[in-house]
Amino acid sequence: MSDTATHPHERKVYYPSQQAVQSARISGMDAYRALCAEAEGDYTGFWARMARENLQWQQPFTHALDDSQAPFYKWFDDGWLNVSFNCLDVHVQAGKGDKTAIVFETDDGAVTRVSYAELLDRVGRFANALKSLGVNKGDRVVIYMPMSIEGVVAMQACARIGATHSVVFGGFSAQSLRDRIEDAGAVLVITADEQRRGGKSLPLKAIVDEALALGGCDTIRHVVVYQRTGGNVAFTAPRDLWMHELSAAHSPDCPPVWVEAEHPLFLLYTSGSTGKPKGVQHSSAGYLLWAKLTMLWTFDIRPDDLFWCTADIGWVTGHSYIAYGPLACGATEIMFEGVPTFPDAGRFWKMIEQHKVTIFYTAPTAIRSLIKAAETNPAVHPRNYKLDSLRILGTVGEPINPAAWEWYYEHIGGGRCPIVDTWWQTETGGHMITPLPGATPMVPGSCTLPLPGITAEVVDETGHDVPWGTGGILVIKKPWPAMIRNIWGDPERFKKSYYPEELGGYYLAGDGAIRDANDGYFTITGRIDDVLNVSGHRMGTMEIESALVSHPLVAEAAVVGRPDDITGEAICAFVVLKRPRPEGEEALKIAAELRNHVGVEIGPIAKPKDIRFGDNLPKTRSGKIMRRLLRSLAKGEAVTQDTSTLENPAILDQLGKTH
Ligand code: WTA
Repeated sequence: MSDTATHPHERKVYYPSQQAVQSARISGMDAYRALCAEAEGDYTGFWARMARENLQWQQPFTHALDDSQAPFYKWFDDGWLNVSFNCLDVHVQAGKGDKTAIVFETDDGAVTRVSYAELLDRVGRFANALKSLGVNKGDRVVIYMPMSIEGVVAMQACARIGATHSVVFGGFSAQSLRDRIEDAGAVLVITADEQRRGGKSLPLKAIVDEALALGGCDTIRHVVVYQRTGGNVAFTAPRDLWMHELSAAHSPDCPPVWVEAEHPLFLLYTSGSTGKPKGVQHSSAGYLLWAKLTMLWTFDIRPDDLFWCTADIGWVTGHSYIAYGPLACGATEIMFEGVPTFPDAGRFWKMIEQHKVTIFYTAPTAIRSLIKAAETNPAVHPRNYKLDSLRILGTVGEPINPAAWEWYYEHIGGGRCPIVDTWWQTETGGHMITPLPGATPMVPGSCTLPLPGITAEVVDETGHDVPWGTGGILVIKKPWPAMIRNIWGDPERFKKSYYPEELGGYYLAGDGAIRDANDGYFTITGRIDDVLNVSGHRMGTMEIESALVSHPLVAEAAVVGRPDDITGEAICAFVVLKRPRPEGEEALKIAAELRNHVGVEIGPIAKPKDIRFGDNLPKTRSGKIMRRLLRSLAKGEAVTQDTSTLENPAILDQLGKTH
């Protein structure tokens, strides 16, 4: 085990080894501080240097930041480039075409490899195919695909011709897919016949058909289908086309379409505290710069690394750390189709051993469930696998509890690998607060310090810094290149959600945080809005409530989160029916039906774990649902809030019970 020390107030500190420090790109805290000082001294000059040194421009930019229409910031905006060119052509042109770009492992363990030259070939063919279907610069393309090389080809091909992609996670329902297609006004959907996960085939094309049949998707001209399983799918001519047939019919030679730095590379829908999911709009240059820089800094990526990010391309982590960041660095990465528990819960460890993974990036939920699996089934304990190829570990998506951190450090990292606990969001484009593997002393449960150029701070509700040791609201004070540019089609909502006036021009992250009284380390204390984090997936309570009340039996519903050992938070729904409160068997039956209904409306990931029925919901005199009280009930805690205003105090007993 490497050095550990105890802070004055009992926090355990883990130091990166001498060797990790010496070999790292940002080597030691002095090097980190020097970069921070450079950014502080000349903020735009710092970013301009980064953008010049790390991206290839077709036409160089002349100024870094345009803040004349804040908070609609523009970065490098008179520069032109192409994202796919920066991810593929640059490496092939540098003579590295034979290097493996992606090692793909299917659910059942088959491995295929694709080199940079082959990937460029496939992206070029498919980009030409998209062009032949009339897809132009600025058109939106929805991608509803499984984890596959083809998924990356689809994203990169859009980038190549300047089409803006919007990837929708395969776990979303037809209804959710339809809503996203309509909101984006997409012209084309790319999907697969089926996806394979955990030994099962799940229909994707059929869900696309269903989504389009729901109506409101008149902008869609074609559905392109990647043939993954060969399963039976309905084909509607001339709308539906096979991806392999299209690619075979086109030349691999597709010159990149140069785009302005600010050109929207993608939209990615994510949950907010109110209403429908919002289409987070990202830029081309600023986004790519950060995807690449954070690979270089946070993961210290090197030519001989084998990088593995276990996220799905349907989430932002899969965008920045599968589809763009690793390729922009010319790295070799693993892409995995399946799930960590199939055929058994040793799958991740087996793959690390077999492929000799050097950098491994996953979610705390996965770690916690694999800890539990290893405790119950010694055969899948990581001690049975040779994991000494690993040099850096990472986590993302939710806070990691110190016990899980320590297990990860000991059992996966062998007490040797720094853990980068990366705090960031769909809106931030890439890592924001994280340890650096060759510099930052680590404290389990803390994401430590902001990256150079990132002006994170904890403030009160009026935007004033709070003293270290006091909790508050996490903000980013200055704009940064990879930041969200807009909410697609809703600039007012963008301003209201992220730049509320009270904060005086700071970006509101939506998380609470506290800085350590001694070293200023950041610890994220969770969302301050009505967003839940279930297994690292963002879910809006309002979205789930609307899904519940759209069921004919439901009169009213309130959704809260409660702590869960494995998933971080679990969804708990309090429901009032239009008929008398059900009990016993009937309650179980209706709860199952409602759960199913949420699955249909949003997707299986949004199904409440716990549904409770009451005659009504606890409300204040002014009619506001007392959510804090519901949270206590969900946790099974004694209610300490003032309940004197409740019309019907007996409902506390009703709502306290699980079915
Ligand atoms: C949470 C995922 C604590 C946080 C990249 C944030 C985290 C939301 C961490 C964004 C972390 C993400 N520690 N909390 N290391 N990383 N979060 O948009 O609440 O899916 O606001 O982006 O996840 O989730 P999103």
